Amino acid sequence: MSVTDQTSVSQVKVCVVYHSPYGHTAKVAQHIVQGAEKAGAEVHLMAVSEVDWDVLDQSDILVMGCPTYMGSLTSALKQFMEQSSKRWLARSWQGKIAAGFTNGGGLSGDKLAVLQQINLFAMQHGMLWSGLPFMPTGRSPHDINRMSSFLGLMTQSDNASVEVTPPEGDLETAVKFGAYLVGLKQNSA
Ligand SMILES: Cc1cc2nc3c(=O)[nH]c(=O)nc-3n(C[C@H](O)[C@H](O)[C@H](O)COP(=O)(O)O)c2cc1C
Repeated sequence: MSVTDQTSVSQVKVCVVYHSPYGHTAKVAQHIVQGAEKAGAEVHLMAVSEVDWDVLDQSDILVMGCPTYMGSLTSALKQFMEQSSKRWLARSWQGKIAAGFTNGGGLSGDKLAVLQQINLFAMQHGMLWSGLPFMPTGRSPHDINRMSSFLGLMTQSDNASVEVTPPEGDLETAVKFGAYLVGLKQNSA
């Protein structure tokens, strides 16, 4: 084995599982993927209706997100959580890094409850939760972490096409979040 082989770190594997009936949350998910890929990870983006459980099992990092509905996560993401119960029993996902994101129509919209639900799900599995560490740069649509969320990523979309909302700052925050999560794993290897 060469020196290079000995020191090389295996590629971090990331899965991003999302639910997104109208595409805004999907756009956020795609930006998380972009950041993770830029950081050198192998990334799998999965709609919650098309989860590949084997690929999920192999991943180092699991990022989950959905829109905020009635101050809660969506039933589709909840169903995914319940479908994971055999893995919970077997402790299959223990030690994976987990993180969450949610998109809502409101500035608050009670998005925090969704992140708390995803967080608790990750804790049930014994995963290692990562929050979002970025200091808000301001509150405009161009700012990073404009909603000052630290438990996970919060984004906000208006009632308009995915071409124009969520705004640039939210999407940039998503890119940074994806890269950050991969860095966490790389630094712990
Ligand atoms: C049934 C329903 C409930 C909603 N409840 C909330 C809510 O509690 N808070 C909020 O900020 N937005 C709420 N919204 C707005 C959605 O969060 C927003 O339209 C969604 O994030 C768009 O995501 P998507 O394009 O990925 O489907 C609600 C929308 C629907 C359809």
